[in-house]
Amino acid sequence: MLTVTNASVDHGKLRAVWDVSLHIGAGERVGLLGANGAGKSTLMGAIIGLYQTTGGTIEYAGEQLQQATTEQTVSRGIALVPEGRRLFATMSVQENLIMGAYASRHDTLEEQLEKVFSLFPILKEKARQNAGELSGGQQQMVAIGRALMSKPRLLLLDEPFIGVAPKLVDEIIERLREIGQDGVTMLLVEQNTHRALDFVERAYVLDNGRTVLDGDRRTLLDDPNFNRIFLGLE
Ligand SMILES: Nc1ncnc2c1ncn2[C@@H]1O[C@H](COP(=O)(O)OP(=O)(O)OP(=O)(O)O)[C@@H](O)[C@H]1O
Ligand SMILES: [Mg+2]
Repeated sequence: MLTVTNASVDHGKLRAVWDVSLHIGAGERVGLLGANGAGKSTLMGAIIGLYQTTGGTIEYAGEQLQQATTEQTVSRGIALVPEGRRLFATMSVQENLIMGAYASRHDTLEEQLEKVFSLFPILKEKARQNAGELSGGQQQMVAIGRALMSKPRLLLLDEPFIGVAPKLVDEIIERLREIGQDGVTMLLVEQNTHRALDFVERAYVLDNGRTVLDGDRRTLLDDPNFNRIFLGLE
């Protein structure tokens, strides 16, 4: 479904992603792990079209995306739940959700809203409240719901559990599993490697902008380099 080949991404003079390659098959749940500043968010930003790649290719469902804008990637079926949620705090929950449908056909808007409300019933109760008044976990539900409004086939989740109470983390993980069962492919960035490896089928590890390891839970946890990279991080 998604194949990134030798992609590099620069922020001005700084190269944040070096020659990264990865592949995600349809329906897979894949992790992207790495320490602070490893380049995880930059790589996700390049996939969704927020950043241009300086080299390499990004192929999604048979199309080249490395030159695409976010509007084009979203309308082709990719959605991002950004790091830090990035909600519009003084807009209502419902208005935030509707923002997620900006690149989609509007005749399915009501139906998509109802789907999000059935996944996260608390958001229906709080639909008219300002998003900024919700708890961290509820705000994360809004961010995930907003991404789902564009009916994505590939969902990019950038640290969705930061600032979320443990009980709500469990609930959100359950909902993400349901979303996966509906056929949505997922790439998850997560600081807590054990939590990530409980959820994903396999993961790539970024270190200083390069993919240094990849494999399933067992392969990664048995690798001394994995333990070196993540030692003391959690
Ligand atoms: N918009 C930007 N402008 C300039 N430099 C940036 C920008 N975004 C990220 N960087 C730099 O690029 C490198 C990779 O950052 P990135 O945010 O992709 O890492 P990350 O793995 O997501 O880290 P974290 O776990 O802290 O979210 C870092 O050195 C960071 O300082
Ligand atoms: Mg990040």
